[in-house]
Amino acid sequence: MIMNQRIIDHFLLMVFLCLSYDGVRGTKLSKQEDLELEKQLKALNKPPIKTIKTKYGDIYDCVNFYEQPAFDHPLLKNHNYHPQMKPSFSMKESVSTTSTSNYKSSRIGLPDRGCPVRTVPIKRTTKEDLIRHKLMPPSENVMFNNSLDRLAIVHTEDFPGSKFGGSGVITNVYNPRVEGEQHSACRLKMIKEKNIIQVGWRVDPALYGDNLTRLFIHFTDGKTSSCFNLLCPGFVLLNTQIPIDGVFEPVSQRGGNISDIGLSINWDLEEGNWWLFSTESNTPFGFWPREVFDDDFAYYVTRVEWGGVVYSPPGILEPPMGSSFFPIENNNYDAFCKNMTLLSDRGGRLYTVESQLSTFLSNSDLYNVSTIPGLMYYGGPGEK
Ligand SMILES: *[C@@H]1O[C@H](CO)[C@@H](O)[C@H](O)[C@H]1NC(C)=O
Ligand SMILES: *[C@@H]1O[C@H](CO)[C@@H](O)[C@H](O)[C@H]1NC(C)=O
Ligand SMILES: *[C@@H]1O[C@H](CO)[C@@H](O)[C@H](O)[C@H]1NC(C)=O
Ligand SMILES: *[C@@H]1O[C@H](CO)[C@@H](O)[C@H](O)[C@H]1NC(C)=O
Ligand SMILES: *[C@@H]1O[C@H](CO)[C@@H](O)[C@H](O)[C@H]1NC(C)=O
Repeated sequence: MIMNQRIIDHFLLMVFLCLSYDGVRGTKLSKQEDLELEKQLKALNKPPIKTIKTKYGDIYDCVNFYEQPAFDHPLLKNHNYHPQMKPSFSMKESVSTTSTSNYKSSRIGLPDRGCPVRTVPIKRTTKEDLIRHKLMPPSENVMFNNSLDRLAIVHTEDFPGSKFGGSGVITNVYNPRVEGEQHSACRLKMIKEKNIIQVGWRVDPALYGDNLTRLFIHFTDGKTSSCFNLLCPGFVLLNTQIPIDGVFEPVSQRGGNISDIGLSINWDLEEGNWWLFSTESNTPFGFWPREVFDDDFAYYVTRVEWGGVVYSPPGILEPPMGSSFFPIENNNYDAFCKNMTLLSDRGGRLYTVESQLSTFLSNSDLYNVSTIPGLMYYGGPGEK
């Protein structure tokens, strides 16, 4: 029975690959390129123990914990990480969302109770994905100064002694309209020189192949690797039910029902790993292992940013950000980041940022950012 299902799944996948391959913008690949893509696919897609298809058309392979992409990292050859890992700190004292009236938590769980124990859900990469990813712009981190990214953010001060061991946020989730190679996102970003980790939501057709609002993580190790989600080894997934690139449902309706999510990234004092949490359910997604960063990153970051970022290729109009309207300092109408927290670098307590944070805004005619203590509003229509 199971065997038959596998054969059917496999057959469907082959059909799917053939169909989607033909559909990719008429791109013609040389035999050489084609072989190269096949090779990459083989390396990326590990044999599944179970396969879950979502209503959005995503295929998640439940892959043995030890075969997930992270463990392809050369510095994780002798790791002793395991599927029952927990951080050495407790998340109890952190924020937990208490939804009020029209506030809801946005959900990103897998159907069918997710993956079996000792496996993790990895989105299957298709040839179409790989071709599309070649069109993706260089990341904001790489092209820091001549980047085409537009930002509307708040950030911690760049004092010489600024050191943080964690941060968190509650942000509401929108679905700004973007097309082609544009993207529009909201993220929590933690930086120490060229080591950067990010988490948030984004609409990014080049990355995902659709215009849905999805969770994302991004990782830059300061040396060789930089990628979204699990597309390069860098993040150890533990959660069997919440995919790292899942679709948010529902998203917020401006002036109507608002859906938010709570996310946090905290350094594990004992192990040196950076843990990513969903703060509503108090469950970890997984962690960035200390081995994959420059030495110091294991202990602290020097800057934290919260807020919106959009991108448009040269010659294309800038897309909307956040709720797609300029903020009017109203939680029911604006995209916001609230309950922004910081953790001191020696562990210690998580504290809520009450003071006014500094803002950074790239294009005040297209977007805006405004703050009141403990809250930041961001967004704008772009060039539409
Ligand atoms: C978020 O912050 C507000 C204002 O400081 C506070 O009243 C609320 O309890 C916080 N929410 C959570 C979930 O911590
Ligand atoms: C970016 O450019 C400005 C001026 O062009 C310069 O002052 C600044 O140091 C540069 N920043 C980085 C991170 O390269
Ligand atoms: C998303 O794409 C679909 C079809 O590609 C389109 O019908 C829809 O309007 C788009 N939605 C947004 C918010 O851009
Ligand atoms: C808003 O939420 C309420 C309560 O869950 C629901 O009845 C209503 O249909 C929602 N409105 C929209 C526009 O989704
Ligand atoms: C942008 O935000 C600032 C600060 O809240 C406000 O003074 C200004 O009027 C806003 N601009 C627009 C275009 O909304």
